[in-house]
Amino acid sequence: MRDVIFVLDFGSQYSHLIVRRIREMGIFAELMPYNTKLEVLKKAKGIVLSGGPQNISGNSALKVDRGIFNLNVPILGICFGLQLISHQLGGKIERSSKKEYGPTVINITTSGKLFAGISKKQMTWMSHGDKVSKLPAGFRALASSDNCKYVAISNEKKNIFGLQFHPEVSHTKNGKKILGNFIKLTKAKKTWSMKDFIDNKITEIKDQIGKDKVVCALSGGVDSSVASTLVNKAIGKQLYCIYVDTGMMRQRETEQIIKTFRSYQKINLKVIKAEKLFLSKLKGIIDPEKKRKIIGEIFIRIFEKEAKKIGKVKWLVQGTLYTDAITSGVSVGKKAAVIKSHHNVGGLPKKFGFTLIEPFRWLYKDEVREVGKLLGLPDSVVHRQPFPGPGLAVRIIGDITKEKLEILRKADWIAREEIEASGWHKRSQQYFAVLPTIKSVGVQGDARTYGYPIIIRAVSTIDFMTVDWTPFPHSLLKKISVRITNEVKEVNRVLYDITSKPPGTVEWE
Ligand code: XMP
Repeated sequence: MRDVIFVLDFGSQYSHLIVRRIREMGIFAELMPYNTKLEVLKKAKGIVLSGGPQNISGNSALKVDRGIFNLNVPILGICFGLQLISHQLGGKIERSSKKEYGPTVINITTSGKLFAGISKKQMTWMSHGDKVSKLPAGFRALASSDNCKYVAISNEKKNIFGLQFHPEVSHTKNGKKILGNFIKLTKAKKTWSMKDFIDNKITEIKDQIGKDKVVCALSGGVDSSVASTLVNKAIGKQLYCIYVDTGMMRQRETEQIIKTFRSYQKINLKVIKAEKLFLSKLKGIIDPEKKRKIIGEIFIRIFEKEAKKIGKVKWLVQGTLYTDAITSGVSVGKKAAVIKSHHNVGGLPKKFGFTLIEPFRWLYKDEVREVGKLLGLPDSVVHRQPFPGPGLAVRIIGDITKEKLEILRKADWIAREEIEASGWHKRSQQYFAVLPTIKSVGVQGDARTYGYPIIIRAVSTIDFMTVDWTPFPHSLLKKISVRITNEVKEVNRVLYDITSKPPGTVEWE
């Protein structure tokens, strides 16, 4: 087994970030439930106890198996983790009269192993109400802040450390260095690099598949694109990718996908043109959930039929990410982070009787992007915005017709072109056009018009769970508006959606 650092999850919104930071140092880290059994924890070279929303002073707080303190592996408690260590080893925690949230300067009094090479005054990032008021036996203070005497503590003999602030967030200026000092103590070997990951995966997949046939539903999204490229490197023509053109893709998207995967990556790609079938089944359907269901079902039927034609397929490639895989399982009673249930039509059910190949089960999204880059995929694929499985069907409000799809495609293309030309795409994680089925009166070229409006939606977000609308400058909005009303004759108004999420969602349906 490779060297691993376990991060025990007590429900902090930053638990994942700790794992990421450690992996960035080339060390393999995994997020584990807070109540992971001691026999499993024994395998770790080091253990980090994450923060969490609980209060020790409230007495109902979660606990870690006390046995970890005798495992003789370095332990670091962060925020709630520090308080837990203090509490479980006999120290005292009290409710603080002054809470500390946000940027906080700390004074380091003893460098010890944790603060080696770090100057005495440090800008850190805090988020706590409780604080340690008495240290457990064998511990000493390493740093304090104006409101908190013990913002960093250690028992160096036992290699147990605690930090009240969050070293994993970028606002803690030297957080990475501090985390790095802890990681050094674990003596964990560097086994985590994306290049090694790719080489190992290719060998592993070759061994696993042998001479069997494999299918993959390629949607053009980042995960399925990178997964199929990786598997293609391993087994070439034994992989059959199926791309279904639902007729609800964006302008030039299908052509781009075919070019990238068939011409450049030489992937065995079967393209199924199914626009007519989708449009006929969607005719007159207005209810968004019905639309999604119909599209999902047709997609699965097509996929089933095509897989049968290939014959004797044993394996199915899916681009499942680490975050998808651990959605259930790692939590503090309730889920630590509510993850949106994905209705990606590319996410095919296991019940087809295939065995899954999920090369990215251990990776985060940006790691997958890095793999894609190393495999030679263009930026247009690697940095593609999320695009819903049902495609433009959920961006036409009301019934879907070929005419409306064409109008939306043109308007969406113009909006994206202008946003990218202005540089504002760097500040918006998703931007697109929406077409509602209403018409209004306008005047163009001295004549009355009766046309559709187009709504522009652009959001800034980290995780798409909550979003802000992106504050595009008036000049950019004006350009988009003028171009769309000039170049798309059926459109006589352009609106900008200024709704955050909540209360809105990113997509209109
Ligand atoms: P909402 O609209 O729920 O969207 O705020 C959050 C993010 O999820 C994307 N989304 C989807 N992605 N299949 C997908 O793969 C879908 O059916 C789907 N619906 C929404 C949306 O584009 C946004 O990035």
